[in-house]
Order: sequence, then structure tokens, then C-alpha cells
Amino acid sequence: MSSAPIRNKSNKTSDAGGTAPILLSKKLSRAPSSARGELKTACIRTFGCQMNVHDSDRMRRMIRDAGYAEVQRYEDADLVVLNTCYIRENAVDRVRGHLGELGRLKKEGRVKKVALAGCLGAAEEAKDLERAYGIDLVLGTHNTYELAEFVGLPGMQETHTPNLPGTEGGHSAFVTIMTGCNYKCSYCVVPTVRGRMVCRPMENVVEEVRRLVISGTRYVTLLGQTVDAWRESSKRFCDLLERVAEEAPRVWFTTSHPSNMEDRTLRLIGEKDTIVGRLHLPVQSGSDRMLKLMHRGYRSGRYRRKIEVFREAVPDGSLSTDIIVGHPGETEEDHEETLRLVEDCSFDAAYVFKFSPRQGTEAANLPGAVPEDVAQRRFLEVLRAIEQNAFSRNRRKIGSVEEIYIRHGHTGDGKAVGETWSGHAVHVPTDAKPGSYVTAKIESAGPHVLYAAEPAKPLR
Ligand code: 5AD
Ligand code: SF4
Repeated sequence: MSSAPIRNKSNKTSDAGGTAPILLSKKLSRAPSSARGELKTACIRTFGCQMNVHDSDRMRRMIRDAGYAEVQRYEDADLVVLNTCYIRENAVDRVRGHLGELGRLKKEGRVKKVALAGCLGAAEEAKDLERAYGIDLVLGTHNTYELAEFVGLPGMQETHTPNLPGTEGGHSAFVTIMTGCNYKCSYCVVPTVRGRMVCRPMENVVEEVRRLVISGTRYVTLLGQTVDAWRESSKRFCDLLERVAEEAPRVWFTTSHPSNMEDRTLRLIGEKDTIVGRLHLPVQSGSDRMLKLMHRGYRSGRYRRKIEVFREAVPDGSLSTDIIVGHPGETEEDHEETLRLVEDCSFDAAYVFKFSPRQGTEAANLPGAVPEDVAQRRFLEVLRAIEQNAFSRNRRKIGSVEEIYIRHGHTGDGKAVGETWSGHAVHVPTDAKPGSYVTAKIESAGPHVLYAAEPAKPLR
């Protein structure tokens, strides 16, 4: 059951850029036997962002309702669903590798059907893959409900706004508040594969959060491509976040856009005890010239001001970002500007990407391609700057006593993975269950994670 919110955010720290809590149930469902007396089995493999993890949860429910037992290995599965990412070319390369392996298993008769879902499924390229690898079902991001029919459930209609809850019953859960994106960043395929923004009504979101909390969820992550663009008549994201933070004992959100981020939202993070003090705000570049070319809709000055407000409102909070190096037209001066911004903003973590040309995006046809060796050098320079900074910020946490939310129970090494109220990832030697809290002293730090001593005693 749910419990009262934890009212202790006094020890705020920085984060090392982990992902949002991910819940992937490994339980086998009790599936009825098929006509031949065999158990029907399915394997879902997820690539990419939290939106995909969430979509996979919903597909998992469908296959379970259809009587499939979930298995972890391809060779044990009658049906394999690949829920894919399309954001960069290496994501597609990975999927090709898996499709090749699945093709072989199909020939051997070990896997019977393969479905390709997610962003790659929504792209033109999926048609070529379908032919080349003999894929049985291709689903985009807007018609995942067709999987239901494919596995023998009655057809079900679904709007773009996913009203189907995903992970009810888990200690942490994703709640989608909007889908799609109204921006047109030069390099990005998301608007093509996920469509325009559709916001879910506030009452609908709050109702789902309430249900989740009643069913035992203790950590809710609000999801969307640009969550801070959420709106409903005069209400903005900040109003929704505030409502959700009243309902759930622990709340985080991702991902945001600097043009939509309101100061009052940043202040709310600092004020509300139930909101994790971690902000992920993709900047992409520190150069105004590049930001314009990318159609980001803000200059670096606005970004810096937002960060100032955040640091003031959440002094011990953690900040992460996304950066693209080697976008067409990026000069050495532009790169220097990015390094300057990295230094000024003192990020706790960053996802750094080398530009990957995506078919159908504006940047794929822009002149001024950056040579691979230059892009690689810039990539390493940005990465190094981020890591050095993150490492020294993390070291400042040594000696502090933190209230840690256990996200994943301990594995072979006896260490659980937890998160401080500031969003720092912490390894902590405890057998406390996921969803519970422990209090422990930070003993050491790396660039990506903190290490805690054995907790004094479980809190709850
Ligand atoms: N090339 C490289 N990085 C990209 N991203 C999005 N599209 C591309 C691309 N074509 C990065 C951006 C975005 C993150 C999710 O992926 O930094 O914020
Ligand atoms: Fe892509 Fe830009 Fe939309 Fe983010 S804001 S999903 S980078 S188009």
C-alpha cells in the first residue's frame, strides 16, 4: 500500500545521469496451453528511451492477456517483439543485428513470428527491413494496439493519448502526460515518427497517479518528449506537476525543452518535498549560431539563465543535459562555445552524441558536414569536460548522509542501486527492497555514481 510522502529533501546532491527508474517485470504469466498442448511464449526487447520502455510495458500486458508466457531469450520465444529506437543510426544498426539473429532462429523453427514496433517501425525504412528480414508485423508508435489483434485478442482502439496504464502495481511507474513533439529540430526524427504533440487531460493523469499510488507505486515519472510543453487551456506543466506532487510520494519528469521551462517550475522543484531535485534539460549546443541552425528556439543566454534559476531554487540539485557534436556547419568556434557553456553550467551529467544524419530531417541535407575524426575529437573533449566536472561535484557529496530510495535490489555484489532526493545514483550495500528508503553516508564517488556505506537502519 501507499505511504505518506517522505518529507526530507534537506540533503540535496547532484546526479550522475542515470536513466529514470525502469521497471521490467520478469515474472512468467500463467499462460493457457495452445491447441498442441504447448505453452505460448513471447519475448519483448526494448531499445531506446523511457517512452519505449513504457510502450513495452503496455505491449507486455497485451501478450499476457493473450495467454503468452514471457521469456527472456529469443530461442525460447514463439513471438519476438522488438520495440525500437530510430533517433540515431547506431540504434538502427543494433536492431539490424537482432533481426539477423532472429532470421536465423526463424529458419531453425525456434522463433515463429517477429514483430517490429516503435520509432523504427514508424519510419519509411521499416518497409525495407520488413522485406529483407521477413518480419511478420510492423507497428509504428501510433498503432501499437494492433499487436492485440495480432496475438488473438479482440481488436481494440486507442487514441494517440495513451490512456492505458502501463506499470500498475510496481514500486515505480511511468505516466505519459504527452506524446509527440511540435518542434522541428533540424536533426530530429521524433516529429516524423511520433507525430505532433497531444497532451493528456490533467484529470486523466491525476486519476492514473492516484490509482498507481493506491496499488503500491511509490515513484512516478512523468514522461513525454517535451513534458514542459504540456498544456490544457490556461493550465501549464507546472500546474500539473504540482497536482501530481500532491498525490505521489516521489515524482520526477523527463524530458524538457528550454523554451518551455518556466521559472516557477524550477522553483517548484525546490519547494516541493516530493519532487526529485534533478533537472534534465537538453541544450544541444552552446553556440547561438548552431542553436539557430538547429531551430531550437532559444539562445545560450536563455539557457544559462534557466540554469541560474534552477541552481538558486535547488542549490543541491543535479543537472543533466544532451549535447550534439558535429552537426553540419559546426565550426571550431561553435565547439569552443559548447565547451564554455559546459564549464559555466557545471553539469552533473550529460548524454553526448555525435551527429547522425537521419533521412527526412533538414540536417541530413545541410552542407558543411563535419569529418568523422573532427567529430570524434569534439565528442571526447565535451565528454571529458563533463566527466571531470561531474566527478568533482560528486566528490563534494562524500561525508553527507542521504536518504536513499532503493530502485533496484542488490545483485551478486550485495549492492542495491538507489537514488538520493537530488537524483544522484548511489550504490549502497543493503538488502532493502526496491521502493523502500534507507539512510546512509556517502563514502566515495565516481564520475557517474556515488558509493554509500552500509545504512544505519532501514527507514521504512
Ligand atoms: N544525431 C545525434 N543526436 C541526436 N539526438 C536526436 N537526434 C539526433 C541525431 N540525428 C539526440 C539529442 C536529443 C537526444 C534524445 O538524442 O541530443 O536530445
Ligand atoms: Fe526532437 Fe527537438 Fe522535439 Fe526534442 S524538441 S523531440 S530534439 S524535435
